[in-house]
Amino acid sequence: MYENPRLVLDSSNPPEPGSIVWRSPSNIAIVKYWGKYGLQLPRNPSLSLTLASSFTDTQLEYEFRDEAHSKSVDLDFFFHQETNEAFQAKTAAFLESLFPVFPFLKQLKLTIRTGNSFPHSAGIASSASGMSALALCLCSLEDSLFGTLQDPAEFDRKASFIARLGSGSACRSIFPHAAVWGRTQAVSGSSDEYAVPVGEQFHDVFRDLHDDILIVSSDEKAVSSRDGHALMDGNPFAEPRYAQARQRLSTLYDAMRSGDLDTFGKIAEDEALTLHALMMCSNPSYMLMRPDSVAIMEKVREYRAATGHPVYFTLDAGPNVHLLYPGNIIHEVRAFIEDALKKHCENGYVQEDWVGEGPEEM
Ligand code: DP6
Repeated sequence: MYENPRLVLDSSNPPEPGSIVWRSPSNIAIVKYWGKYGLQLPRNPSLSLTLASSFTDTQLEYEFRDEAHSKSVDLDFFFHQETNEAFQAKTAAFLESLFPVFPFLKQLKLTIRTGNSFPHSAGIASSASGMSALALCLCSLEDSLFGTLQDPAEFDRKASFIARLGSGSACRSIFPHAAVWGRTQAVSGSSDEYAVPVGEQFHDVFRDLHDDILIVSSDEKAVSSRDGHALMDGNPFAEPRYAQARQRLSTLYDAMRSGDLDTFGKIAEDEALTLHALMMCSNPSYMLMRPDSVAIMEKVREYRAATGHPVYFTLDAGPNVHLLYPGNIIHEVRAFIEDALKKHCENGYVQEDWVGEGPEEM
């Protein structure tokens, strides 16, 4: 869709060396993306909240080298100031896959320095923040070299498209507050190729939502998201699941516009449990939630029943529990976490997060 052989630098007039920095947040899906096909295309639409305190900072330095016919990228890569061969190889392969979109990448020597705001060992997925930060740097680079992405909406759309190629969920991190990825009749302009912003349309209560991430375990996942998506292909519940996700997205979208927290919370919890149920009935079957994840979810439901406070849980593809609640009950919920939930967390670790304003160029 974005292949552009004209984005080539003129070696008789090379650009000055330069540097670009973006900070991009993670996001938490309420309706989950689980199952994909083709080149990172989703089997169902998903809707996420953009977070604030869990982010990746990425600096991209570039310098002209005239190697227009090179097949490999010239990349130095640092993660938290240190070289990291696995990340370097993964990033280099990703950049090389983007040569048809950004042919000028062959003509540059690149240095990427990246790091997360959350501890690497916390078990918080960094692919959404990391891939969105990198995609934003690449779009800024294109714009500074060619002036081709001056329109902010077009810039965001392309950044979301590129982020998606790196990691599906990353395409939703480009936008403030909330985003929808995947074609759905509920959202006009929605696409399988990139996410669209939807936060503007939502009730204020969803702009003041907190997401405290209770770290139950930081162990490496037994089954990666990539393998989990692939297992959906043989899952007997796959088709009904995709239909259910489409229906839930449409219900959720209406609820978020009207400010219906109860419906929002019910869908958030149902989606979390459906996601993990899909893992359990994959072949081979696997489980990523831990006994402490279950204990937390049960306590959240008991607390809600006892107090009437609108606190809900969701899960990513891992054991950690995200607690979602509006800002006006923060003191009560923080006390509940302290008294009842922290004991289920690894070293008592909680990453406090909230709905944020989206990425920022630094
Ligand atoms: C459970 O975006 O990490 O978090 O496209 O293979 O990189 P890849 O997968 P990824 O999958 C995320 C799945 C999820 C739900 C979601 O974020 O929608």
